[in-house]
Amino acid sequence: MTGLFITFEGGDGSGKSTQASLLADWLTASGRTVTRSREPGGTELGLELREIVLHRRGHIAPRAEALIYAADRAHNIATKVRPAIERGEIVIQDRYLDSSVAYQGAGRVLDPIEVRDISLWATEGFMPDLTILLDLDETIGRARLDEARTQYDRLEAEENDFHSRVRAGFLALAEAETHRFLVLSATASIESIAEAIRARVTPLL
Ligand code: TMP
Repeated sequence: MTGLFITFEGGDGSGKSTQASLLADWLTASGRTVTRSREPGGTELGLELREIVLHRRGHIAPRAEALIYAADRAHNIATKVRPAIERGEIVIQDRYLDSSVAYQGAGRVLDPIEVRDISLWATEGFMPDLTILLDLDETIGRARLDEARTQYDRLEAEENDFHSRVRAGFLALAEAETHRFLVLSATASIESIAEAIRARVTPLL
């Protein structure tokens, strides 16, 4: 069986983890071996980098932030994702380089092409077979987060304007690569989103 790399993208509070779990369960039940990962933090080194980039107190320069995400990504792809795909497994991952382009590019206003190129260098050009974008109005995402927690990480704590640029950044990426992206409204029911994802994944199996 050939391996597959499926990534989930979207703003904070868009339900990526829920949908990634549902898809993983469905694929496992149908007999496929699934590896779950996430960025930042899919590996042991990644967990340390996640702690720094999301929870370290004090300012982190935008280019330093972009490089920490890229370092996490390089290690995750080299030691976890690529080997799993080579074994014929399906890797389902929360966030990948599109998050860097949207958050560090559109959000932090670094050059999106440079941000993407850093990740392509970090991963030797490794790209997903399918990217599911759960699109959500940033004010709804914020309300969902407010319900779910009392403390925010460095990115979540950014104001609405930042998250509105991130959302527009994701949509622009999806429009530029329609063959790779499936864009779904994150306000639909959990079950109807899961069904649309299964319909898109089935022909890839
Ligand atoms: P998570 O809570 O969904 O795991 O995401 C962690 C945060 O990191 C989220 O606010 C998005 C942000 N992020 C970036 O800014 N750049 C990246 O490349 C990635 C992967 C995440």
